[in-house]
Amino acid sequence: MSQKKRALTGIQPSGQIHIGNYLGAVKPAIELQKDFDCVYFVADFHAITSLKDGATLSSFTLDLTATWLALGLDTQIHIFFRQSDVAFVAEYAWYLSCFTGMGLLEKCHAYKDKIAQGKDASHGLFAYPVLMAADILMYDVDVVPVGKDQKQHVEVARDIAGSINANYGKQIIKLPTPVISESTMLVPGLDGQKMSKSYNNTIPLFASEKALEKLVMSVKTDSTGLEDPKELDGSLVGQLFSLFSSEAQYEDLKSRMLKGGMGWGHAKKELFGVINDHIRGPRSEFEKLRGDPAFLLKVLNEGADKAKSIALKNLQALRDCFGFEDVTRK
Ligand code: ADP
Ligand code: TRP
Repeated sequence: MSQKKRALTGIQPSGQIHIGNYLGAVKPAIELQKDFDCVYFVADFHAITSLKDGATLSSFTLDLTATWLALGLDTQIHIFFRQSDVAFVAEYAWYLSCFTGMGLLEKCHAYKDKIAQGKDASHGLFAYPVLMAADILMYDVDVVPVGKDQKQHVEVARDIAGSINANYGKQIIKLPTPVISESTMLVPGLDGQKMSKSYNNTIPLFASEKALEKLVMSVKTDSTGLEDPKELDGSLVGQLFSLFSSEAQYEDLKSRMLKGGMGWGHAKKELFGVINDHIRGPRSEFEKLRGDPAFLLKVLNEGADKAKSIALKNLQALRDCFGFEDVTRK
């Protein structure tokens, strides 16, 4: 068996992947491949808290699968699966629920934020962090690469695991650690708020070249006149540019902006250029893969088989605590 530590993360198939998801979650997770055994998945059980149409969900699931593969996830070595294919995570979540204080969930900001936006509060939405804890704890995970907004949920998973271990006086469940990529903790959207599907301010990662250009040209700027010097540092264009440019490219644009005579429109054209150069290769790979759904489903099915063998072992470890039968018995 591999001596490497295990990394796990999931992304909901609830919309098109945007550059915030890419820089905050997918890219750091892809980079962990060389040092970790990775278990990554499509969090479709989580997605149904908001998206309930099967055809749309299936389509987003294939988009997400093609995205991970196009960005270089090696499914020969690592595990990639669809959450609903390993459905006993819901059973595991129930066990965790029985160790989760209401107060712990009431504190969770993702839930509080959705309520503040006026969204309906189903029990599923409230209990969402428990299902997420089950995703993590059922796979004996060491690290969980996520964006900053998910850190609290990983802490909930740690709390629940700690309660169970304390209750039985031994380590039944491994405590996971969140890994947050510092430089891309919060990618801003077109309007300067956090980029998010819920705020309608995203740049989809695999938007066509034309659509990408149009979106980038709509990034919010101030109305400083064309001839005036402009400060790239701290501007929204500058923040987005620095995520895709080299340091030298950034310094070069910065000094030209400071001289004056360059409008924000020019800077946005350059922003489009660095983003487009970065994603050109993966975008064409994505389009090829997305055109072959049978292949994508095969990848998901093979991943589910591998995931099940790890999950069943850990599910049984918890069932044993309650004196429940061997789950694999016929
Ligand atoms: P959204 O807010 O668009 O619905 P999700 O909540 O589905 O995005 O997030 C999927 C993953 O991408 C999570 O790990 C999350 O932390 C990360 N992520 C989402 N938006 C951003 C952002 N603007 N900057 C950095 N990471 C992000
Ligand atoms: N809640 C995460 C999100 O909205 C998705 C997710 C579900 C996840 N289960 C997980 C992330 C387990 C990391 C680990 O982005």
